[in-house]
Amino acid sequence: MDVVLSGIRATGHLHLGNYFGALRNFVKIQDKYNCFYFIADLHSLTTHPHPEDFHQNVKIILTEYLAAGLDPDKCTIYVQSDVPEICELYTLLNMLAYKGELERTAAFKDKVRKNPENVNAGLLTYPVLMASDILIHRSSWVPVGKDQDQHLEMARTFARRFNNLYGTEVFPEPHAMDPVGGPVKVPGLDGNGKMGKSEGNGIYLCDDEKTITKKVMRAVTDAGPKTPDSPKPEVIDNLFTLMKLVSTPDTVNYFEEKWNDCSIRYGDMKKQLAEDICKITLPIRARIDDIANDSSYLHRVVSDGRDKARASASATLEMAREAIGIKRF
Ligand code: ADP
Ligand code: TRP
Repeated sequence: MDVVLSGIRATGHLHLGNYFGALRNFVKIQDKYNCFYFIADLHSLTTHPHPEDFHQNVKIILTEYLAAGLDPDKCTIYVQSDVPEICELYTLLNMLAYKGELERTAAFKDKVRKNPENVNAGLLTYPVLMASDILIHRSSWVPVGKDQDQHLEMARTFARRFNNLYGTEVFPEPHAMDPVGGPVKVPGLDGNGKMGKSEGNGIYLCDDEKTITKKVMRAVTDAGPKTPDSPKPEVIDNLFTLMKLVSTPDTVNYFEEKWNDCSIRYGDMKKQLAEDICKITLPIRARIDDIANDSSYLHRVVSDGRDKARASASATLEMAREAIGIKRF
Protein backbone atom coordinates (compact mmCIF):
# COMPACT_ATOMS: atom_id res chain seq x y z
CA MET A 1 0.00 0.00 0.00
CA ASP A 2 1.30 3.51 -0.86
CA VAL A 3 2.77 5.45 2.03
CA VAL A 4 1.26 8.89 2.71
CA LEU A 5 2.97 11.26 5.12
CA SER A 6 2.29 14.74 6.38
CA GLY A 7 3.01 16.99 9.32
CA ILE A 8 2.31 20.40 10.74
CA ARG A 9 4.89 22.52 12.57
CA ALA A 10 4.31 22.75 16.32
CA THR A 11 3.95 26.51 16.65
CA GLY A 12 0.53 26.94 18.29
CA HIS A 13 -3.16 26.20 17.88
CA LEU A 14 -4.64 25.06 14.56
CA HIS A 15 -6.84 27.46 12.63
CA LEU A 16 -9.43 26.95 9.87
CA GLY A 17 -6.65 27.28 7.25
CA ASN A 18 -4.78 24.31 8.76
CA TYR A 19 -8.04 22.40 9.15
CA PHE A 20 -9.51 22.80 5.66
CA GLY A 21 -6.09 23.02 3.93
CA ALA A 22 -4.55 19.97 5.61
CA LEU A 23 -6.05 18.24 8.65
CA ARG A 24 -9.52 17.50 7.28
CA ASN A 25 -7.89 15.72 4.39
CA PHE A 26 -5.62 13.69 6.69
CA VAL A 27 -8.77 12.44 8.42
CA LYS A 28 -10.52 11.57 5.14
CA ILE A 29 -7.70 9.39 3.79
CA GLN A 30 -6.35 7.89 7.01
CA ASP A 31 -7.72 4.40 6.36
CA LYS A 32 -7.19 4.36 2.58
CA TYR A 33 -3.37 4.39 2.66
CA ASN A 34 -0.53 3.56 5.01
CA CYS A 35 -0.63 7.01 6.65
CA PHE A 36 1.98 8.63 8.89
CA TYR A 37 1.06 11.96 10.48
CA PHE A 38 3.61 13.65 12.66
CA ILE A 39 4.14 16.77 14.72
CA ALA A 40 7.08 18.73 13.33
CA ASP A 41 8.60 19.93 16.60
CA LEU A 42 12.25 20.01 15.47
CA HIS A 43 11.29 22.31 12.60
CA SER A 44 9.91 24.82 15.10
CA LEU A 45 13.35 25.14 16.78
CA THR A 46 14.59 27.54 14.10
CA THR A 47 12.97 30.35 16.10
CA HIS A 48 14.21 29.12 19.53
CA PRO A 49 10.90 28.73 21.41
CA HIS A 50 10.98 28.74 25.23
CA PRO A 51 11.37 25.12 26.54
CA GLU A 52 7.97 25.18 28.24
CA ASP A 53 6.20 26.51 25.16
CA PHE A 54 8.01 23.92 23.05
CA HIS A 55 6.45 20.96 24.89
CA GLN A 56 3.09 22.69 25.21
CA ASN A 57 2.99 23.29 21.44
CA VAL A 58 3.54 19.59 20.76
CA LYS A 59 0.70 18.71 23.12
CA ILE A 60 -1.58 21.24 21.43
CA ILE A 61 -1.09 19.80 17.94
CA LEU A 62 -1.36 16.22 19.18
CA THR A 63 -4.60 16.97 21.01
CA GLU A 64 -6.08 18.89 18.10
CA TYR A 65 -5.10 16.14 15.62
CA LEU A 66 -7.01 13.63 17.74
CA ALA A 67 -9.96 15.93 18.42
CA ALA A 68 -10.34 16.58 14.69
CA GLY A 69 -10.65 12.85 14.03
CA LEU A 70 -7.21 11.34 13.43
CA ASP A 71 -7.51 7.79 14.70
CA PRO A 72 -4.37 6.09 16.06
CA ASP A 73 -5.89 2.71 15.12
CA LYS A 74 -6.01 3.76 11.46
CA CYS A 75 -2.82 5.81 11.06
CA THR A 76 0.52 6.31 12.76
CA ILE A 77 0.67 9.53 14.80
CA TYR A 78 4.05 10.50 16.22
CA VAL A 79 6.32 13.30 17.34
CA GLN A 80 9.28 14.05 15.04
CA SER A 81 11.82 14.33 17.89
CA ASP A 82 10.82 10.82 19.08
CA VAL A 83 12.30 9.29 15.93
CA PRO A 84 16.09 9.82 15.92
CA GLU A 85 16.37 7.96 12.59
CA ILE A 86 15.03 11.13 10.92
CA CYS A 87 18.04 13.07 12.19
CA GLU A 88 20.47 10.44 10.95
CA LEU A 89 18.93 10.58 7.49
CA TYR A 90 19.09 14.39 7.73
CA THR A 91 22.88 14.10 8.24
CA LEU A 92 23.21 11.75 5.27
CA LEU A 93 21.08 13.93 2.97
CA ASN A 94 22.88 17.12 4.05
CA MET A 95 25.95 15.74 2.24
CA LEU A 96 23.95 15.83 -1.00
CA ALA A 97 22.35 19.26 -0.55
CA TYR A 98 24.17 22.23 -2.05
CA LYS A 99 24.38 25.61 -0.35
CA GLY A 100 23.34 27.42 -3.53
CA GLU A 101 20.12 25.49 -4.05
CA LEU A 102 19.17 25.85 -0.38
CA GLU A 103 19.79 29.60 -0.51
CA ARG A 104 17.52 29.90 -3.54
CA THR A 105 14.49 28.45 -1.73
CA ALA A 106 11.64 31.00 -1.62
CA ALA A 107 10.74 30.23 2.02
CA PHE A 108 14.39 30.71 3.08
CA LYS A 109 14.72 34.02 1.22
CA ASP A 110 11.48 35.19 2.80
CA LYS A 111 12.68 34.34 6.32
CA VAL A 112 16.05 36.05 5.70
CA ARG A 113 14.21 39.19 4.64
CA LYS A 114 11.92 39.12 7.68
CA ASN A 115 14.44 38.04 10.35
CA PRO A 116 17.94 38.98 9.15
CA GLU A 117 19.28 38.62 12.71
CA ASN A 118 18.50 34.87 12.90
CA VAL A 119 19.69 33.20 9.70
CA ASN A 120 20.82 29.89 11.21
CA ALA A 121 21.94 26.68 9.47
CA GLY A 122 18.73 24.93 10.58
CA LEU A 123 16.73 27.46 8.62
CA LEU A 124 18.95 26.98 5.56
CA THR A 125 18.60 23.19 5.74
CA TYR A 126 14.87 23.20 6.61
CA PRO A 127 14.11 21.51 3.25
CA VAL A 128 16.64 18.74 4.02
CA LEU A 129 14.97 17.94 7.34
CA MET A 130 11.59 18.01 5.59
CA ALA A 131 12.93 15.64 2.89
CA SER A 132 14.17 13.33 5.69
CA ASP A 133 10.69 13.34 7.27
CA ILE A 134 9.23 12.23 3.96
CA LEU A 135 11.90 9.81 2.73
CA ILE A 136 12.41 8.04 6.08
CA HIS A 137 9.15 6.11 5.45
CA ARG A 138 9.75 5.96 1.67
CA SER A 139 6.57 7.99 1.25
CA SER A 140 5.03 8.45 -2.20
CA TRP A 141 2.35 11.03 -1.34
CA VAL A 142 2.44 14.17 0.75
CA PRO A 143 -0.82 16.04 1.40
CA VAL A 144 0.26 19.67 1.92
CA GLY A 145 -0.75 23.09 0.64
CA LYS A 146 0.60 24.77 -2.51
CA ASP A 147 3.07 26.78 -0.41
CA GLN A 148 5.06 23.54 0.11
CA ASP A 149 5.55 22.71 -3.60
CA GLN A 150 9.14 23.93 -3.70
CA HIS A 151 10.07 21.92 -0.60
CA LEU A 152 8.56 18.81 -2.19
CA GLU A 153 10.47 19.43 -5.39
CA MET A 154 13.65 19.48 -3.30
CA ALA A 155 12.70 16.22 -1.57
CA ARG A 156 12.40 14.67 -5.05
CA THR A 157 15.79 16.10 -6.02
CA PHE A 158 17.49 14.64 -2.91
CA ALA A 159 15.80 11.25 -3.42
CA ARG A 160 16.92 11.13 -7.07
CA ARG A 161 20.44 12.32 -6.23
CA PHE A 162 20.84 9.67 -3.54
CA ASN A 163 19.53 6.90 -5.80
CA ASN A 164 21.78 7.96 -8.70
CA LEU A 165 24.92 8.44 -6.62
CA TYR A 166 24.63 5.06 -4.90
CA GLY A 167 23.02 3.13 -7.78
CA THR A 168 19.98 2.16 -5.74
CA GLU A 169 16.22 2.65 -5.69
CA VAL A 170 15.83 3.08 -1.95
CA PHE A 171 13.82 6.29 -2.22
CA PRO A 172 10.68 6.69 -4.32
CA GLU A 173 10.07 10.26 -5.53
CA PRO A 174 7.38 11.84 -3.33
CA HIS A 175 4.56 13.89 -4.85
CA ALA A 176 2.05 16.40 -3.51
CA MET A 177 -1.38 14.93 -2.89
CA ASP A 178 -4.25 17.32 -3.51
CA PRO A 179 -7.11 17.24 -1.01
CA VAL A 180 -10.21 15.25 -1.97
CA GLY A 181 -12.25 17.81 -3.96
CA GLY A 182 -9.22 19.93 -4.98
CA PRO A 183 -6.82 22.39 -3.32
CA VAL A 184 -8.24 24.76 -0.75
CA LYS A 185 -7.00 28.21 0.22
CA VAL A 186 -8.74 29.56 3.30
CA PRO A 187 -8.85 33.36 3.19
CA GLY A 188 -8.41 35.76 6.10
CA LEU A 189 -11.44 37.88 7.01
CA ASP A 190 -9.36 41.01 7.59
CA GLY A 191 -8.67 41.76 3.94
CA ASN A 192 -5.47 39.67 4.02
CA GLY A 193 -5.19 37.04 1.30
CA LYS A 194 -4.78 34.00 3.53
CA MET A 195 -5.67 32.88 7.02
CA GLY A 196 -2.49 32.13 8.96
CA LYS A 197 -0.82 32.19 12.33
CA SER A 198 1.72 34.81 11.34
CA GLU A 199 -1.00 36.86 9.64
CA GLY A 200 -2.68 37.14 13.07
CA ASN A 201 -6.13 36.57 11.56
CA GLY A 202 -6.79 32.96 12.62
CA ILE A 203 -10.14 31.50 13.60
CA TYR A 204 -8.98 28.61 15.79
CA LEU A 205 -10.46 25.14 16.31
CA CYS A 206 -10.25 25.82 20.06
CA ASP A 207 -12.05 29.19 19.93
CA ASP A 208 -15.37 29.40 21.82
CA GLU A 209 -18.62 30.52 20.23
CA LYS A 210 -18.32 34.11 21.45
CA THR A 211 -14.78 34.49 20.10
CA ILE A 212 -15.71 33.02 16.72
CA THR A 213 -18.77 35.24 16.41
CA LYS A 214 -16.72 38.31 17.33
CA LYS A 215 -14.03 37.45 14.76
CA VAL A 216 -16.55 36.85 11.98
CA MET A 217 -18.66 39.93 12.76
CA ARG A 218 -15.47 42.02 12.51
CA ALA A 219 -14.78 40.77 8.95
CA VAL A 220 -13.97 43.56 6.52
CA THR A 221 -16.78 44.31 4.02
CA ASP A 222 -17.66 47.14 1.62
CA ALA A 223 -20.63 49.47 1.05
CA GLY A 224 -22.55 46.71 -0.80
CA PRO A 225 -23.31 46.03 -4.49
CA LYS A 226 -24.73 48.94 -6.53
CA THR A 227 -25.74 47.11 -9.71
CA PRO A 228 -27.22 43.59 -10.10
CA ASP A 229 -24.86 40.69 -10.87
CA SER A 230 -21.72 42.77 -10.33
CA PRO A 231 -18.38 41.02 -9.68
CA LYS A 232 -17.44 40.68 -6.01
CA PRO A 233 -14.52 42.61 -4.54
CA GLU A 234 -11.89 40.41 -2.84
CA VAL A 235 -13.09 40.95 0.75
CA ILE A 236 -16.62 39.84 -0.16
CA ASP A 237 -15.36 36.95 -2.23
CA ASN A 238 -13.42 35.84 0.88
CA LEU A 239 -16.67 35.66 2.89
CA PHE A 240 -18.24 33.49 0.20
CA THR A 241 -15.14 31.26 -0.07
CA LEU A 242 -15.31 30.54 3.65
CA MET A 243 -19.07 30.04 3.49
CA LYS A 244 -18.65 27.44 0.73
CA LEU A 245 -16.41 25.45 3.07
CA VAL A 246 -18.69 25.49 6.11
CA SER A 247 -22.30 26.06 4.97
CA THR A 248 -24.77 24.02 2.90
CA PRO A 249 -25.07 24.77 -0.86
CA ASP A 250 -28.60 26.11 -0.17
CA THR A 251 -27.26 28.68 2.26
CA VAL A 252 -24.53 29.75 -0.16
CA ASN A 253 -27.08 30.08 -3.00
CA TYR A 254 -29.39 32.14 -0.80
CA PHE A 255 -26.66 34.73 -0.16
CA GLU A 256 -25.44 34.57 -3.80
CA GLU A 257 -28.96 35.55 -4.89
CA LYS A 258 -29.06 38.33 -2.30
CA TRP A 259 -25.73 39.60 -3.67
CA ASN A 260 -26.93 39.42 -7.25
CA ASP A 261 -30.16 41.38 -6.61
CA CYS A 262 -28.31 43.88 -4.35
CA SER A 263 -30.38 43.06 -1.26
CA ILE A 264 -27.55 41.41 0.70
CA ARG A 265 -27.13 42.35 4.36
CA TYR A 266 -23.59 41.53 5.44
CA GLY A 267 -24.65 41.37 9.09
CA ASP A 268 -27.04 38.49 8.29
CA MET A 269 -24.46 36.70 6.19
CA LYS A 270 -21.79 36.98 8.89
CA LYS A 271 -24.21 35.74 11.57
CA GLN A 272 -24.97 32.67 9.44
CA LEU A 273 -21.28 32.15 8.67
CA ALA A 274 -20.33 32.29 12.36
CA GLU A 275 -23.09 29.78 13.20
CA ASP A 276 -21.94 27.36 10.50
CA ILE A 277 -18.27 27.64 11.53
CA CYS A 278 -19.34 26.85 15.10
CA LYS A 279 -21.25 23.75 13.93
CA ILE A 280 -17.94 22.36 12.68
CA THR A 281 -15.50 23.62 15.30
CA LEU A 282 -17.45 23.43 18.58
CA PRO A 283 -17.67 19.60 18.61
CA ILE A 284 -13.90 19.52 17.95
CA ARG A 285 -13.36 22.08 20.73
CA ALA A 286 -15.38 19.94 23.14
CA ARG A 287 -13.17 16.92 22.38
CA ILE A 288 -9.96 19.01 22.73
CA ASP A 289 -10.64 19.63 26.42
CA ASP A 290 -11.45 15.98 27.17
CA ILE A 291 -8.43 14.65 25.29
CA ALA A 292 -6.02 17.23 26.75
CA ASN A 293 -6.99 16.08 30.24
CA ASP A 294 -6.49 12.38 29.47
CA SER A 295 -2.73 12.16 29.84
CA SER A 296 -2.63 8.34 29.85
CA TYR A 297 -4.40 8.28 26.46
CA LEU A 298 -1.98 10.87 25.04
CA HIS A 299 0.96 8.90 26.43
CA ARG A 300 -0.32 5.69 24.80
CA VAL A 301 -0.93 7.34 21.42
CA VAL A 302 2.53 8.89 21.33
CA SER A 303 4.40 5.80 22.48
CA ASP A 304 2.55 3.44 20.08
CA GLY A 305 3.15 5.98 17.29
CA ARG A 306 6.83 6.22 18.15
CA ASP A 307 7.25 2.42 18.05
CA LYS A 308 5.52 2.09 14.68
CA ALA A 309 7.35 5.08 13.19
CA ARG A 310 10.75 3.88 14.44
CA ALA A 311 10.20 0.38 13.04
CA SER A 312 9.47 1.82 9.60
CA ALA A 313 12.25 4.43 9.85
CA SER A 314 14.97 2.04 10.94
CA ALA A 315 14.19 -0.34 8.07
CA THR A 316 14.68 2.53 5.57
CA LEU A 317 17.82 3.75 7.31
CA GLU A 318 19.29 0.27 7.14
CA MET A 319 18.84 0.30 3.35
CA ALA A 320 20.36 3.79 3.05
CA ARG A 321 23.36 2.85 5.21
CA GLU A 322 23.94 -0.27 3.17
CA ALA A 323 23.76 1.69 -0.12
CA ILE A 324 26.33 4.18 1.20
CA GLY A 325 28.64 1.42 2.41
CA ILE A 326 28.29 1.95 6.15
CA LYS A 327 29.04 -1.52 7.52
CA ARG A 328 29.12 -3.07 10.97
CA PHE A 329 32.35 -4.67 12.19
P1 ADP B 1 0.56 28.83 9.36
O1 ADP B 1 0.49 29.52 8.00
O2 ADP B 1 -0.59 29.20 10.22
O3 ADP B 1 1.92 29.02 10.03
P2 ADP B 1 1.56 26.27 8.55
O4 ADP B 1 2.45 27.02 7.58
O5 ADP B 1 2.21 25.63 9.73
O6 ADP B 1 0.43 27.29 9.05
O7 ADP B 1 0.71 25.23 7.71
C1 ADP B 1 0.39 23.92 8.10
C2 ADP B 1 -0.47 23.29 7.02
O8 ADP B 1 -1.70 24.01 6.87
C3 ADP B 1 0.19 23.28 5.62
O9 ADP B 1 -0.09 22.07 4.95
C4 ADP B 1 -0.45 24.46 4.92
O10 ADP B 1 -0.46 24.31 3.51
C5 ADP B 1 -1.86 24.46 5.52
N1 ADP B 1 -2.42 25.83 5.56
C6 ADP B 1 -2.04 26.85 6.39
N2 ADP B 1 -2.78 27.97 6.18
C7 ADP B 1 -3.65 27.67 5.18
C8 ADP B 1 -4.70 28.40 4.50
N3 ADP B 1 -5.00 29.66 4.81
N4 ADP B 1 -5.40 27.76 3.52
C9 ADP B 1 -5.11 26.46 3.20
N5 ADP B 1 -4.15 25.73 3.79
C10 ADP B 1 -3.42 26.30 4.77
N1 TRP C 1 7.06 22.47 6.08
C1 TRP C 1 5.73 22.08 6.47
C2 TRP C 1 4.89 23.35 6.75
O1 TRP C 1 5.43 24.40 7.03
C3 TRP C 1 5.73 21.20 7.70
C4 TRP C 1 6.48 19.93 7.43
C5 TRP C 1 7.69 19.57 7.93
C6 TRP C 1 6.04 18.87 6.58
N2 TRP C 1 8.05 18.34 7.45
C7 TRP C 1 7.07 17.90 6.61
C8 TRP C 1 4.91 18.68 5.81
C9 TRP C 1 6.97 16.71 5.87
C10 TRP C 1 4.82 17.48 5.08
C11 TRP C 1 5.83 16.52 5.09
O2 TRP C 1 3.68 23.26 6.68
